[in-house]
Amino acid sequence: MITRLTNSPAEAAAFIKGGGIVAFPTETVYGLGADVFNDAAIRKVFDAKQRPADNPLIAHVAEAGDINLLSERISPAAQRLVDAFFPGPLTLVLPKSASVPLLATAGLNTIGIRMPEHPTARAFLRSCAVPIVAPSANLSGRPSPTTWQAVFEDLYGRVDCILQGDPTEIGIESTVVDCSVDPPAVLRKGAVSIEQLREVVPAITDWNADAAGLISRSPGMRHRHYTPAAEVIILERQQQPEGTERDAYIGLSPRLGTFKLMRVCSTPEEYASSLFEFFRECDRAGIVKIFCESVKEEGIGAALMDRIRRASGTG
Ligand code: TXA
Ligand code: MG
Repeated sequence: MITRLTNSPAEAAAFIKGGGIVAFPTETVYGLGADVFNDAAIRKVFDAKQRPADNPLIAHVAEAGDINLLSERISPAAQRLVDAFFPGPLTLVLPKSASVPLLATAGLNTIGIRMPEHPTARAFLRSCAVPIVAPSANLSGRPSPTTWQAVFEDLYGRVDCILQGDPTEIGIESTVVDCSVDPPAVLRKGAVSIEQLREVVPAITDWNADAAGLISRSPGMRHRHYTPAAEVIILERQQQPEGTERDAYIGLSPRLGTFKLMRVCSTPEEYASSLFEFFRECDRAGIVKIFCESVKEEGIGAALMDRIRRASGTG
């Protein structure tokens, strides 16, 4: 398959209308989109990514009003979260409508719904005129793509079109909150922190604290994720790594030592937005070990540490 590269949301949307699959930028990571109501197109998404069929997809909408196309049961708590955080880096899991294909939800009776804020994503979704299911646009198991070049690296020749945009601002995936249970529960940490969520719905629970419960609620969490080829090692703040010229370091504090690649970030936000691309850079450079400095688990730091732990095999 020849993959078309374009800057035009309308041109990209035409591929969706023809039953194709399109990678597009959002403020979190790039997604790989298909028409939520087109089973054949959804199958292409799973094939292109080599994604396990038991991992459900997130449906993306252009307007909050479009949520009704996917779910008829929006609890008062879910509505408050929509009012507070849509558009943005938050996915809500809601009971699905009968019209939503089980292929999209991996057989679940719920559907994840997100309304991105990114202007190119919004323009693309509006042109599609239908909700778009989109997992992150990486090969399954690889770090999520934060640039169109990373999408190209994983999926060129496997997708119909790549809608090119700038590197994504947030750089890690959306917070996922299950609103089909009462009280709602955080299934995946992201840029919207649990502290922010609790300002709106104080009773929200953190399923990340309960691994067995989490896996039963969020099938995606059982799969290996966010893994570069190199070994990822978490480094406490005062710890001095024994790096060699085949190793790499990323963190907030400068380090002494001989690293082939070193990335010192000035804020946790910058660290989060750099992490996945740094992992890819390390793979391209044949790095053996990647030392990642740990950060305080507040705000984006909680989501960042979640991704680093998963990458290190300790999450
Ligand atoms: O930021 C994001 O969320 C990006 C962009 C493209 O929007 N998308 C993304 O999709 O990260 P994906 O497929 O890589 O991750 C979706 C996560 C998985 O952990 C999946 O298990 C969970 O959301 N999920 C989706 N639908 C669900 C459902 N109905 N119930 C429970 N978990 C669900
Ligand atoms: Mg993913």
